[in-house]
Amino acid sequence: METTTEDRIALGRVGIVGSGIMGAGLAEVAAQAGYEVVVRSRSPASAACLRGTIRASLDRQVRRGLLDDGAPEASLARVRTTDDLSELAECDLVIESVVEDLDVKKALFRELDRVVQADAILTTNTSTFPVVELAVQTARPDQVCGLHFFNPAPVMRLVEIVRPITASDGTVAAVRAFARQCQKDPVEVADRAGFVVNALLFPYLNNAVRMLETGTASMEDIDAAMRNGCNFPMGPFALLDLVGLDTSLSILDALHAEFRDPNYAAVPTLRRMVAAGRLGRKVKRGFYTYER
Ligand SMILES: NC(=O)c1ccc[n+]([C@@H]2O[C@H](COP(=O)([O-])OP(=O)(O)OC[C@H]3O[C@@H](n4cnc5c(N)ncnc54)[C@H](O)[C@@H]3O)[C@@H](O)[C@H]2O)c1
Repeated sequence: METTTEDRIALGRVGIVGSGIMGAGLAEVAAQAGYEVVVRSRSPASAACLRGTIRASLDRQVRRGLLDDGAPEASLARVRTTDDLSELAECDLVIESVVEDLDVKKALFRELDRVVQADAILTTNTSTFPVVELAVQTARPDQVCGLHFFNPAPVMRLVEIVRPITASDGTVAAVRAFARQCQKDPVEVADRAGFVVNALLFPYLNNAVRMLETGTASMEDIDAAMRNGCNFPMGPFALLDLVGLDTSLSILDALHAEFRDPNYAAVPTLRRMVAAGRLGRKVKRGFYTYER
């Protein structure tokens, strides 16, 4: 029987490029869904950190009774790390999840196109950039689309499938099948900066920082107001720290470049905090400080 692209994605090997907050979450989700996963991490230290993050997350789920005792070992056994991009050659689907920098992502797509088998699908976890600009770096623009997970990836059910005008129906269908196999609820979105969620969310986050700047309330009180008044699970400053302030700034800059809406113009405090290296939870210091 002939194997379709959709079948291969349902059964295949998944490559992930990037081992930061999202890379670790994506590797965990794909391994839990039964895929063999290869993660390209630039250093042994970040590869070790990624395995530790996945282990801690899976162990937490065992303690909560959500997973069987043997599940963490079985999932981790499906995750291999490498510093060599060419080890993703046999993957059927690759998810790029490196720093939110368009030039870095473009160069990576050119390299991925050279090393990954010709019929594989290449996707990006970008939060804002035009996916078509990555698609045209490759000789397979019809096999490129956005696959935007949310943080933390093992917990959040939404995936935005971003469809550049170059993508084929088969690519979008295969990626949708992959998202479903990962127990996610995909929505399809046109290739516009910020897609659905970030285009709506970031004016709110940016204006929360503006509110702090103008002295309307303390950040603790703004967070408490949004938790208790809107039933949000966390306030805007806790969320900015979770996303990462560098990633948040890149998202705002990309939104502003596309739409020129003043609500997307990053407020100075955010820019200064990134300059100071206060990037949020991942470095234990952002708006708040963190023990671990
Ligand atoms: N943080 C979030 O909440 C979130 C949510 C959804 C999507 N995303 C997207 O996921 C992607 C990764 O974000 P993250 O939060 O994991 O960031 P992160 O800062 O935690 O990790 C960034 C990764 O990129 C790598 N990297 C940095 N510079 C690089 C370079 N020049 N070449 C190759 N790799 C490089 C780092 O080594 C690291 O593995 C971004 O596109 C971001 O927009 C982030």
